[in-house]
Formats: sequence, C-alpha cells, structure tokens
Amino acid sequence: MSKLHVSTTVNGDEVDFLCDPRETLLDCLRDKLNLTGAKEGCGTGDCGACSVTVDGRLVCSCLMLGAEADGKQIETVEGLADGDVLHPLQQKFIDHAALQCGICTPGILVAAKSLLEKNPNPTEEETRYWLAGNLCRCTGYDKIIRAVMETAEELREAS
Ligand code: FES
Ligand code: FES
Repeated sequence: MSKLHVSTTVNGDEVDFLCDPRETLLDCLRDKLNLTGAKEGCGTGDCGACSVTVDGRLVCSCLMLGAEADGKQIETVEGLADGDVLHPLQQKFIDHAALQCGICTPGILVAAKSLLEKNPNPTEEETRYWLAGNLCRCTGYDKIIRAVMETAEELREAS
C-alpha cells in the first residue's frame, strides 16, 4: 500500500510524516512522532483517552485518520506544559491526586483545557457534562472535577 505524505502542525511545531491511508491519527502520533501521551483505551471513540484537539476542536484521535491531519493544527497533552512549568490543570491534578493509573489523564487534561478555553467559568454540572466522554476506572471522578473547577477559579483570578 502506498504511503501518504502528511504535513501538519503539532503543538506549534511543523511536522511531516508518512502513513498508511488507514492509520489513525492516534497511531501516527504515538508511533511516528513519539508523542505517546494520548492513549488507546478502547479504539472505538468511547473512552476519551486518545483526546487531542484539531484546529481547536476536541476529537478522539482513534477515530480520525492520520491523513486527515494534513494542514491541520494538532494539540496534544505534550503541549500543555511550558517547558518545566506545568499547566495549571496538570498542577491541580497532582495537588488533588486526581489520577491513579494515569491512562485517562492525558485525555482528560486535553478535554478540560478545551472546556476552560470555551467556558472559563463552568458550573460543576457543565464540567461533568463536558468530561462525560472521558472515562476513568480509578478515581471516581470527584477529584478530577474538583481539580478542574479549582483550576478554572485560579485562572479567572489570574486574568
Ligand atoms: S481510544 Fe479513542 S476514545 Fe477510547
Ligand atoms: S486514573 Fe486510571 S483510568 Fe483514570
């Protein structure tokens, strides 16, 4: 099968890669670009562990083809921290121990960042609704929701 040449931007860096027409964006990120933050939990769009943004829109990268990333702006969990400085969401997840095995965490962080960009002052209900597509088998969700709500408050106070 002939390979497709894809030119895209990932976390602000222009990148090129070759992929099979049927390879998912998730596999391309992980296997070709060594960006292993996005995880494959289900591979069927049900768990959110593979969440990334594409041109600012939250997507399951297991449901998108790598070839469809051509010309797009991709953001992954690797783009959240600023060098050694964690994104406020990442710090709050640590402060609240809002993760255990960590498989769901990159997707939840990407989804939560996307929420706060669209709605800097979400209610708890809105936060739970937005994150309903991100499944976590470990934490019971309360710590995650508290971490996101407190980050929102902190960012509002800082702005
Ligand atoms: S791995 Fe993509 S939604 Fe579960
Ligand atoms: S921390 Fe294990 S699935 Fe969420």
